[in-house]
Amino acid sequence: MLDYPKDASVPYYRSVGQVPPQRHVAFSVDGDTPTFEEFIGEEGFSGTGSLLYHLGVPSNLVDSRHWDLGDQSLTPNTPLRPRHLRLPDLWPDDEPHGRDAVRHRRTFLGNADVRMSYVVAGADSPLYSNGVGDEVVFVQSGAAVLESVFGRIEVRQGDNVVVPRVTIHRWLPVDVDTHGPFRALCVEASGHVRPPDKHRSRFGQFLEGSPMTERDFRVPEGPLLAVPDAAGSDTDVYVRHRSASGVAGSVVTYDHHPFDVVGWDGQLYPYAFNYRDFAPVVGRTLMPPPTYQVFQADGFVICNFVPRPLEFGEGAIKVPYYHSNVDSDEVMFYFAGETAARKGSGIATGSVSLHPAAYTHGPRREAYLDSPGMTEPMEMAFMLDTFRPLELGEAALACDEPDYPWTWSGRGPQGALA
Ligand SMILES: [Fe+2]
Repeated sequence: MLDYPKDASVPYYRSVGQVPPQRHVAFSVDGDTPTFEEFIGEEGFSGTGSLLYHLGVPSNLVDSRHWDLGDQSLTPNTPLRPRHLRLPDLWPDDEPHGRDAVRHRRTFLGNADVRMSYVVAGADSPLYSNGVGDEVVFVQSGAAVLESVFGRIEVRQGDNVVVPRVTIHRWLPVDVDTHGPFRALCVEASGHVRPPDKHRSRFGQFLEGSPMTERDFRVPEGPLLAVPDAAGSDTDVYVRHRSASGVAGSVVTYDHHPFDVVGWDGQLYPYAFNYRDFAPVVGRTLMPPPTYQVFQADGFVICNFVPRPLEFGEGAIKVPYYHSNVDSDEVMFYFAGETAARKGSGIATGSVSLHPAAYTHGPRREAYLDSPGMTEPMEMAFMLDTFRPLELGEAALACDEPDYPWTWSGRGPQGALA
């Protein structure tokens, strides 16, 4: 059984392993082994960053070649339709052993700010770095270890794992025969992802009353110098990076292993937040979705809908009332349980719904009318709302449920639904 420590705060300053007493000074370990300082920083040298101390020279490249990312095309969602994507249908054989959590992702939605992909993996990934933006990997099921230049984080079902841009890392599924395959929804941002400003003081500390706090974030244990292959041989890193036409892939080779870090400090590093650690705020009547926000990003927000005590007002409607998100496209990933608002629509565990702007959505008629009598909280979903329209990736076109738009009325262009 894995032990999941919650031992530090994030996104706060941390110092891990050996670092010199001052920045930017010569630093040797064990008296005579030199280290090479690397700064990983946002917004030029004017934003959040960390300093890492390597045994190898971080820029020692020996090769670079093409990495085929697969089909990255995006198709407009027109004519306008809500969508139900049955992601588990992408791999009906459910045989994950030949797949890893980096190279076998399939893109199902995207725009200029974010791409969303899905993967069911059983094999260790190669080293990987996303130079386009930060990633949030949401773990639907299974367990894994995230190893990175910053150290290791043990990851479990329900984790939102934030991996900053350019962090070299790899995903190692744990005991697939016991935990099942590592199923993950991968949010690939074009910019940065951070906890909501509204929950933090102007200095960054989480406020009293915030549904999430520093104690809820799990951070890297490290550094990883103990990894047996940590130094001394040429090492490939798969890199997703920007290109004029969108995203591109390359495999770059260093003359050493990038996990050769003896220590680091700063405020930029990966971390994990589990939905079970979110403390929902409940009202007399239903609180709106922003109550459940866990991250903000450039062009989108992320919420975790978690089990909650039910609203207690007389006649309170306990499923989301009908709403038209005039400024955003809404993506829901139903990762566990059953969501009352979608009852009767065919939505199941592993499903994704897309409810685009310019379209009103909500529960089916029966669910709305029955909800004041609800006694069990049923919400359990990962939500991502974008401000630019989303388009459909190849994976969406491969698992789209064509009758979903008509499930509210029970009647579509071909007549009554079966
Ligand atoms: Fe909605």
